[in-house]
Amino acid sequence: MISGRTRIFGVIGDPVEHVMAPAINNAAFRKLGLDFLQVPFRVKKEDLGKAIEGMRALNIRGINVTIPHKVAVMPFLNELDPLAERIGAVNTIANDGGVLTGYNTDAPGFLQALLGEGIEPKGRNVVILGAGGASRAVSFILAERGSNVVILNRTLERAKELADVVSGALRKEIRALKLDRENLARELGGAHILVNTTSVGMSPNINETPVSADLLKSKLVVFDIVINPIKTRLLGEAEVAGAQTIRGVDMLVWQGVVAFEIWTGLKAPYELMKEEVVKALEEQSAVNGQHRSARL
Ligand SMILES: NC(=O)c1ccc[n+]([C@@H]2O[C@H](COP(=O)([O-])OP(=O)(O)OC[C@H]3O[C@@H](n4cnc5c(N)ncnc54)[C@H](OP(=O)(O)O)[C@@H]3O)[C@@H](O)[C@H]2O)c1
Repeated sequence: MISGRTRIFGVIGDPVEHVMAPAINNAAFRKLGLDFLQVPFRVKKEDLGKAIEGMRALNIRGINVTIPHKVAVMPFLNELDPLAERIGAVNTIANDGGVLTGYNTDAPGFLQALLGEGIEPKGRNVVILGAGGASRAVSFILAERGSNVVILNRTLERAKELADVVSGALRKEIRALKLDRENLARELGGAHILVNTTSVGMSPNINETPVSADLLKSKLVVFDIVINPIKTRLLGEAEVAGAQTIRGVDMLVWQGVVAFEIWTGLKAPYELMKEEVVKALEEQSAVNGQHRSARL
């Protein structure tokens, strides 16, 4: 029941139709008996400042931030959590009496998903594919944790730029290479962990993979942060090769857990949130399937 006491949360992005935050958080709010409600807001780039002003004016308690606003939102906030500041991206905002603080929960969410599967990346050789927004959080948290990181990207310049930013902030060498078969084969030879942060293999291109199956070995841990489909071709082929696999949904749930705990100060119901993510993804795939068959 929504009442005069209900506290409102939001998620902003453009588009927002596909976001899973409301399904996950509202289920968690209900489970904990909290009179909270999260709703989606489609916010155009040019309206971002007004949307954040509106958050203050309407006393919205918290907002998740998704593409394309994760970097652009930063100047509109009062404070930045040190990790978000160093990564240069915000995906969660908390409103404490009009003071808006920006956090990055992608990075701790990624790390927690690894640790949750019993993988400690400290001192490990990690090959990261991709140099986009998600790679920023992943590369930063792994380098900070003490992994030996190499970033491979289709556009070498972007990989170099990211490696420079991370190594500049942490005073640690990060290598950058072009994403091609030769570099992949050599780097994977000595790697412990492979992380895909590219969008290769993401729905609807589910038959694509960034790494050919013959390069995958049983000693590797393969983490594909792509969320949809839940089991990407890369993860399927890694399983066949005998590698340990970690899914993008695990990172998604953990980043949601971190955001929930920032907002409520309570322990998040992890298992329930995980069930909700999987259910929402399955519903999305079913709807996409229906749309596809309707178009055929
Ligand atoms: N699990 C989670 O919680 C979570 C969180 C955030 C993001 N994600 C997922 O991570 C993926 C990347 O998101 P993002 O925000 O980082 O996107 P982004 O900023 O657009 O970056 C996309 C990356 O993919 C690379 N790429 C795209 N198409 C490629 C191709 N055909 N071959 C090789 N490389 C290609 C790009 O390379 P170039 O630089 O050469 O263009 C770039 O490195 C998405 O699938 C997203 O859903 C998951």
